[in-house]
Amino acid sequence: MDTSNNQDKPKIVVLISGGGSNLQAIIDQVGAGTIDASINLIISNNPDAKGLQRAATAGIETAVIDHRDYDSRESFDRELMRHIDAEQPQLVILAGFMRIFTPHFTNHYAGRMLNIHPSLLPKFKGTNTHARAIEAGVAQHGASVHFVTSELDGGPLVIQAIVDVKKDDNPDQLASRVLQQEHIIYPIAVKWFCEGRLSLDGSLVRLDRKTLPAEGIAYQASL
Ligand code: GAR
Repeated sequence: MDTSNNQDKPKIVVLISGGGSNLQAIIDQVGAGTIDASINLIISNNPDAKGLQRAATAGIETAVIDHRDYDSRESFDRELMRHIDAEQPQLVILAGFMRIFTPHFTNHYAGRMLNIHPSLLPKFKGTNTHARAIEAGVAQHGASVHFVTSELDGGPLVIQAIVDVKKDDNPDQLASRVLQQEHIIYPIAVKWFCEGRLSLDGSLVRLDRKTLPAEGIAYQASL
């Protein structure tokens, strides 16, 4: 599978910290030609991230930039930017990247950086979203793809997958059903972006030139 050497296609850099299952979903869609793009580089802040093996299997270049080697967020972000910008990507994808950025970093990639978060934002920003959703007794949970801004998990929403919470769900069961939906909605958003159909205009998200509602497109899971 060749996912990395077509000069004409939009270039993507993906940032990961862990398992990389969302990365895999995007690699698969690029490999299948559903997403017409080239993944030029995968960066992990965690040298042990399983996603690095996925990248190697797909033949994609990787870089490890371990945040523990840097004495400030600024210096870590600077090094990240140096690697990302060397590729001149049209799109930066956060796929389970578990570091908080400086505003300088998020501003630099405004309108060209997407994130996926495991909740129906603006509910449950931050970590442990599945346990908190169960604890709160919500009937519906899910995942959100959004443009990244300086506000943590607060950028304009593109698409949300809605997952029903079952009466006896535990956090792992719920997380696993949400993750399955992440693997559907993230490639959809990336495809839209790479086709030039998705953009950020100020704080408004446009798809095919139409402004999306604040919650983005609703994708209802049939699980
Ligand atoms: C995913 O559930 C993603 O939504 C979440 O981390 C997981 C990564 O899984 N991201 C965040 O919580 C970001 N705030 P993956 O490494 O298997 O794609």
